[in-house]
Amino acid sequence: MTYTTNTDDRMIRLYDRLAPVYDRLHQRWLRFAGGEAQAALEAAVRVGMTEEAKLLDAGCGTGRFARGLLACGITPKQITLLDPSEAMLSRCSDLPVRRSRGRLEAMPFPDSSFDLVTSAWVVETVSEPSDALRELCRVLRPGGILCLTFCAEKPFRGFVDWVMYRGLSLRHTGRFLNIEDIKRSLKGAMTCEVQTLPSAGPAATLIARRCGA
Ligand SMILES: C[S@@+](CC[C@H](N)C(=O)[O-])C[C@H]1O[C@@H](n2cnc3c(N)ncnc32)[C@H](O)[C@@H]1O
Repeated sequence: MTYTTNTDDRMIRLYDRLAPVYDRLHQRWLRFAGGEAQAALEAAVRVGMTEEAKLLDAGCGTGRFARGLLACGITPKQITLLDPSEAMLSRCSDLPVRRSRGRLEAMPFPDSSFDLVTSAWVVETVSEPSDALRELCRVLRPGGILCLTFCAEKPFRGFVDWVMYRGLSLRHTGRFLNIEDIKRSLKGAMTCEVQTLPSAGPAATLIARRCGA
C-alpha cells in the first residue's frame, strides 16, 4: 500500500477521534496480541533507565507508558512526551512532564537529546517508517538506547491473531511491518547493535544501542 502525507494527516485525525476510547481498544490489543511485546519493551526500559537518564516517549498516546514509569519512581523531569494528536496529548495533561506536539518524522528536538527513546505502536502508523526511524535515531545520544515495539508480520498463531490482524487493517489504524526491514532501516540510520526481544504474537520489540560514547 502506498501512503501519502494526506494519509498521515488522516491517521492523526483518526487518533484524535479515537482518543476517548483508545485505552479500552488498546487494552484488547495488548491482551490478545501485543502483550508480550509490550512487556518486553517495559522490561528493557526498566533495565536501561538510570536516575539521570532523559527519556523520550515518541507517539505517547494517552501517556500510559509514562504513568507506569512515574509509578516506578522515575522523576517527571526525566520524561518527555511527543504526539501529533491534540486529543491524545490532552489525555496526558495531568502528567507533570514535558509535552510536545509533533510527528516522529520531524521531531522538535536537537540531535542527541535523549539517553533513552521509546516508541510503542507508532512506526506502523506513519507512511514512511524509515523517515521516522531516522529521526528517532537522530535524537538519541551515542551510547543511548532506542526501544521500539510495533505490529509485525509473523505467521498467525491461530484464529485470534487473524481477528486482530483484520481488526487493525479494517480500522486503518496501522499496518504490519517486516522486522528485517526495520532492522535494516535502523542500521542505515545509525551505527548500532540491534537485538530482537523474544515475544509471541503479531508484534515485535527491538532494542537498538547506538554505538559511541
Ligand atoms: C497506537 S497509538 C500508540 C500510543 C502509545 N504509544 C501506546 O503505547 O499506547 C499510536 C499513536 O501514534 C500517534 N501518531 C500517529 N501518527 C504519528 C506520527 N506521524 N508521529 C508521531 N506519532 C504519531 C497517534 O496520535 C497515537 O497517539
